[in-house]
Amino acid sequence: MSTNTTSAYSDFHLQFIAGEWQTGKDDSTNTNTNPYNGDTLVEIQQATKDQLNEAYDAATQAQEAWAKQTPAARAAVLYKVVNILDQRQEEIVDWLIKESGSTRIKAMVEFGATRAITLEAATFPNRVHGEIRPSNTPGKENFIYREPIGVVAVISPWNFPLHLTQRSIAPALALGNAVVLKPASDTPVTGGLLLAKVFEEAGLPKGLLNVVVGSGSEIGDAIVEHKASSFVSFTGSTSVGKHIGELANGGEHIKQVALELGGNSPFVVLKDADIDQAVKAAVFGKFLHQGQICMAINRIIVENEVYDEFVERFLSHVKTLQVGDPNDQGTAIGPIINEKQVQSLRDKIDEAQKEGAKMLLSGEINGQLVPPHVFTEVTREMDIAYNEIFGPLIGIIRAKNEEDALSIANDSMYGLSSAVFTADMQKGLRFARGIRAGMTHINDIPVNDESNVAFGGEKNSGIGRFNGEWVLEEFTRTHWISMQNEPREYPF
Ligand code: TAP
Repeated sequence: MSTNTTSAYSDFHLQFIAGEWQTGKDDSTNTNTNPYNGDTLVEIQQATKDQLNEAYDAATQAQEAWAKQTPAARAAVLYKVVNILDQRQEEIVDWLIKESGSTRIKAMVEFGATRAITLEAATFPNRVHGEIRPSNTPGKENFIYREPIGVVAVISPWNFPLHLTQRSIAPALALGNAVVLKPASDTPVTGGLLLAKVFEEAGLPKGLLNVVVGSGSEIGDAIVEHKASSFVSFTGSTSVGKHIGELANGGEHIKQVALELGGNSPFVVLKDADIDQAVKAAVFGKFLHQGQICMAINRIIVENEVYDEFVERFLSHVKTLQVGDPNDQGTAIGPIINEKQVQSLRDKIDEAQKEGAKMLLSGEINGQLVPPHVFTEVTREMDIAYNEIFGPLIGIIRAKNEEDALSIANDSMYGLSSAVFTADMQKGLRFARGIRAGMTHINDIPVNDESNVAFGGEKNSGIGRFNGEWVLEEFTRTHWISMQNEPREYPF
């Protein structure tokens, strides 16, 4: 698509507060680098707590008028955003590659998901509806209104920064709320500033979307605790999510929270499965975005009878994957987001070997490029199976039978997504319903997201649901209003 008529999205060194692009006033700087080659993309002076307060003030002020706008006017802004995304697709995909280390394939998947949720959100202003309920009190009528919440605080992660930010801000704005957003420090552009440019270009009134760039450890608590917001939408790790949940409901405040946290997706292959198809799915569902996806396959569990065959075919497919420049069309595995994450993967590789897993495939770690590592004879309690990996390492566990496979699949503190392969759909459905998770896919990968279907997890994977009616309810509040149409008789 052509971008001739509009200026390029190239300069992102400023904060977006109260509808103005302004310099951060903190002494610290966010140096945003390309995880593949280390190039500096932009240096951003970080925001102070005063600037955060300014963002909240602007959001509070702008929200009242926005909520009063017609549904059609709000929807129009969202439709315009979709148009701009389409016009700027190439620039946006380019930013996803250079800032978050997305391969071209992953960047396109992420762009598609971002576009889909924006389109879905554009329908929300006209889909909000209330209810009329009967009353047991003579002369009373009960009305249930759905109203905007007010100001929503959004904190987003670096792995699918564009989509996981837009998944909160587009519905929130469509439903008449204002937003104060803190993107992850590794992806301030694709996780926030770029979307601010898109919404600004689409004519979103000033103050409704504020992007405050600062480190989570410095301004994170202040964002959560600020009295102007009564709702916090957080996507990230379980440890930070727990902290945010406590903070939002400690001290002076009781706030609603939506927490989309870590995962440990099991991928189960039963003995009657189409092994070829299961292998293809396992490779894509494990290695897309280098395994840095909350829904990525974290454990492969294979029934004994087909274990050796699966391992052999899986290995030969994994060996064909190209590791390298994410901008290259043929690359399947690009760089890990930062050195800290690379170190955590090194530790996991060492630990797996110490615990007795057999390393069938490995390779040299080169900068932030980590080649696939495959371990067999893994057991459920080993670190590589029990904890979230968030990288291109995988352990394959042998299950005695279907019952054992289900028990292993459920042996986790997480419950986000999951998958099971079988030729028998009834068996698949029975197995899927036995898994304690928010999402299970039969004969597909656990990595799935559709803008009109409930997305979210159980247990330590979080609370709340995204997409469709579920997020529509999440980002509105319910207000019961009754009308007493005739004098009511009171007992005293
Ligand atoms: P986190 O370290 O939790 O960071 C997520 C966000 O929280 C970032 O914006 C971070 O800011 C901010 N943050 C950090 N400390 C904070 C604090 N004390 N108060 C408020 N905000 C704070 O996670 P990550 O490393 O970016 O992402 C990896 C994890 O997220 C994985 O566990 C993954 O499973 C999970 N994740 C889950 C999902 C869903 S949908 N369930 C999606 C993506 C990722 P800074 O960057 O400035 O530290």
